[in-house]
Amino acid sequence: MSFSVLGPAAAGLAVALLVVSRILAYRKSITPYLPPGPRGLPIIGNVFDMPNSKQWLTYAEWSRQYGDICSVKILGQPLVILNSARAMEDLDRKGATYSDRPKLEMGGELVGYSKTVVLMPYGAALRNYRKHIGRLIGSASAVGKYLDIEEEETRKFLRRLSTSPNELSAQLRKLSGSLIMKMTYGIEVLANNDPFVTLVEDANNNFNIASTPGKFLVDVFPVLRFLPEWFPGGGFKTLAREWSKAFNDMVDVPYNVAWQQILTGTAPRSFVSAALENEEKITSEYIYEIKHTAGSLYGAGADTTVSAQHGFFLAMVLHPEVQKLAQAEIDAFVGPDRLPGYADREHLPYVNAVVTESLRWHNVAPLGVPHRATEDGVIDGYLIPKGAIIIANLWNMLHDPEVYPDPFTFNPSRYIGKETQRDPRHFAFGFGRRVCPGMHLADASLYICIVMSLAVFDITYAMEDGVPLVPVHENTNGTISHPKPYKYNVKPRSAKAFSLISGP
Ligand code: HEM
Repeated sequence: MSFSVLGPAAAGLAVALLVVSRILAYRKSITPYLPPGPRGLPIIGNVFDMPNSKQWLTYAEWSRQYGDICSVKILGQPLVILNSARAMEDLDRKGATYSDRPKLEMGGELVGYSKTVVLMPYGAALRNYRKHIGRLIGSASAVGKYLDIEEEETRKFLRRLSTSPNELSAQLRKLSGSLIMKMTYGIEVLANNDPFVTLVEDANNNFNIASTPGKFLVDVFPVLRFLPEWFPGGGFKTLAREWSKAFNDMVDVPYNVAWQQILTGTAPRSFVSAALENEEKITSEYIYEIKHTAGSLYGAGADTTVSAQHGFFLAMVLHPEVQKLAQAEIDAFVGPDRLPGYADREHLPYVNAVVTESLRWHNVAPLGVPHRATEDGVIDGYLIPKGAIIIANLWNMLHDPEVYPDPFTFNPSRYIGKETQRDPRHFAFGFGRRVCPGMHLADASLYICIVMSLAVFDITYAMEDGVPLVPVHENTNGTISHPKPYKYNVKPRSAKAFSLISGP
């Protein structure tokens, strides 16, 4: 299109716009600014713009207005939000700079969770802890050593579910809890009211309260941590003292049981026994490391896996056609005389695609876990200042229609054939040097739960007065987000299928 066609006024305007955009691009290249975002107020910044529920939806909206990387300031603290895979990958390439964690005064420092992997600052200690986890579950082959335990625990789960079909949620919790306690400490948990599970779940519940944004003033004004407990307003210090004891019990009690088993030569294979049995020099520092690494696994691994499994059951209620295809594949390859297991995985491409789509469709950690920049950096021409908190909107990446057309539909066929869509595992497990170290275990647990459940059960709508209750998929609030409670129905596919899960 030539200027003569536009007319002189329009041509003048076009030139002016071109010049201004060049100047802006030039200024951006020499003095980088924070990424764009909603305009805040003096001093308090964007306090009133911040959503207090389902933040990922507001951040996704901001990305449409301001772009893939946007930012806000809260009382002077910059918060950078990454809304696309490309933006996250840019930061991924400079992993060490963007892999610290923000400090949480109440939950992290006063209660003690900054001693666990998820909240540890980035540095040599974190790398050491992650190395220990890596040896336990850091690769598909490392996880391979625990597949027999996984399959056995999942069979017991199906058995329990068949007798208590309305307890899906509680039974999934038991499945993940028993597996992690066994792998980490070699502890066999009781079917009901297990004291170790109670200890760990109580401590983790305390942490969830302690880390709720805005719940404790000490997170906004860290100087308050010097307030004496008896001083008016010092009640949070009493809570912190009690919760810190619960945290220490969670770390010490199961570890001591495992240690006793090692001393008496009765320890089953576990993370703790493997770390201590063959170690020649066991120093107190080493014991501290192993204890706190072990104490990190339940909190990070149980609820997340349960959420993904919940998402799968919901998807099956809503998509009977997907369920039928997956069951037909299992029936054709495995037959009716045995339960499928991990060894069948490579022969079940559609079931695998169901696993993959489950990780995308229901997003377990919609905003991941916040990172923190340890030095100034420039990404995409924007300044990411030292100390900025970085949030990856994983939910938006997993529901980006450019990457996953029709993103709210559960469709395993996305990953089958020649032109497959991106593997959601690239996003669902976070980024940089903090990427989830439990992803291989999570993937194996999800696959085993899915393949065995589909072989044995039909998962359908619950009925009320002859009318199917059609659930809606909605994420709950929180760092780890579950599907909102939904009604369902599970029943064994046949007497033969039921017989496959018999036993204690
Ligand atoms: C479907 C299940 C799971 C999902 C979706 C998931 C997702 C995530 C995400 C998004 C993060 C934050 C990464 C980041 O900061 O960028 C994370 C961290 C972590 N996950 Fe997982 N996870 C799952 C299961 C597990 C399991 C089974 C374990 C271990 C038993 C585990 C252990 C951890 C640990 C220790 C961290 C903290 C890593 C660090 O801060 O360096 N996760 N996970």
